Amino acid sequence: MVLLSGPNMAGNEIKYVTDCLETGWVSSVGKYVTQFEEMTAQFAGTKYAVATSCGTTALHICLILQKVTAQDLIIAPNITFIASINSIKYMGANVALIDVDKDTWQLDLDLLQEFLETETEQRNNICYHKKTNKRIPVIMPVHVLGNMCDMDRLLALAKKHNIIIIEDSTEALGSYYKGKHAGSFGLMGTFSYNGNKIITTGGGGMIVTNDEELAKKAKHLTTQAKSDAFEYVHDEIGYNYRLVNVAAAMGVAQMEQLPGFINKKKEITEFYKNAFSKVADIEFQKLTEHVLPNNWLPTISTTKQKQILKALNDAGLQSRPFWVPMNKLPMFVNEIYFTHNDLSNKVYQNCLSLPCSTYITNEQLEQVAKTVLNNF
Ligand SMILES: Cc1ncc(COP(=O)(O)O)c(C=O)c1O
Repeated sequence: MVLLSGPNMAGNEIKYVTDCLETGWVSSVGKYVTQFEEMTAQFAGTKYAVATSCGTTALHICLILQKVTAQDLIIAPNITFIASINSIKYMGANVALIDVDKDTWQLDLDLLQEFLETETEQRNNICYHKKTNKRIPVIMPVHVLGNMCDMDRLLALAKKHNIIIIEDSTEALGSYYKGKHAGSFGLMGTFSYNGNKIITTGGGGMIVTNDEELAKKAKHLTTQAKSDAFEYVHDEIGYNYRLVNVAAAMGVAQMEQLPGFINKKKEITEFYKNAFSKVADIEFQKLTEHVLPNNWLPTISTTKQKQILKALNDAGLQSRPFWVPMNKLPMFVNEIYFTHNDLSNKVYQNCLSLPCSTYITNEQLEQVAKTVLNNF
């Protein structure tokens, strides 16, 4: 099987993990956790980074730090991986799912603006949803596939309506908008190191922020809110959400290779773009102006989605459909879905992601291209 986006462990992973095993520093404290955090903060251009057990827990902690409650409504796009919305539901809050742009597959900012202007009002500089009387403290944009929306416009909208931004930038390590790294626009941003991501620690995540107080609190909350270095004194309800040293050791080795991985992903994406350039029924994700993407997961949109998915997977070339839109999942059918044309559904029905591991061979790429082209 040619994997969709498999882990590439060709660097110092074994060396650093062996160091953990030999020294016994395998658990939640150790030099690699700190080093991984420092490397990430430097790469993302933020002052602080706090390593977590995964991207989902990173998002959960961000929402806890914003004191989100069951009386709140959080804004998020309708096309995302379920973890974004789950993290909101862990807080008991409701979600206003906004439909996505048909070309960039990101939160549609025209719709967001309309929602904010027609459905919300300010009371004492706090944004409220008029119909449900719920407070709207947070917008969670999701940088789907390493693309982003117009971040200047999003930030301006959020500021105007007194809403904070927490970026689900889990897929966007190595993506930039106007030269600024994903995750560094909002009050907090998050990364995931799940097995298929551009770098992986098996499972892991990160919170990035420029706010010292929030970074300290994030670290505190992810380590059971232990407030005394020696005694088991805890000053609030905490979480066991810290990344372990043995995973962070992999993270350090992966960060060393990240620039190379980004180059390779770009090459792979360009290969597919060339291979399919003459097929009118294949479109690639349109990049928002000023976005330099990480090209993490080349994904095409075509009316032949189902048959191509079948042909590729039958040939041992792993390819995947897009996520079922959040408003269609049974747990979220009663959440608000703000849309005019339900473009999420079209994106869902047409998109599929192509094999793109950083170690994929030219022959395998040719095989994928041939299998796709056979359907036209
Ligand atoms: C958009 C999005 N949000 C959140 C997550 C959650 O990250 P994790 O799997 O590390 O919990 C992922 C990745 O899996 C994701 O793709």
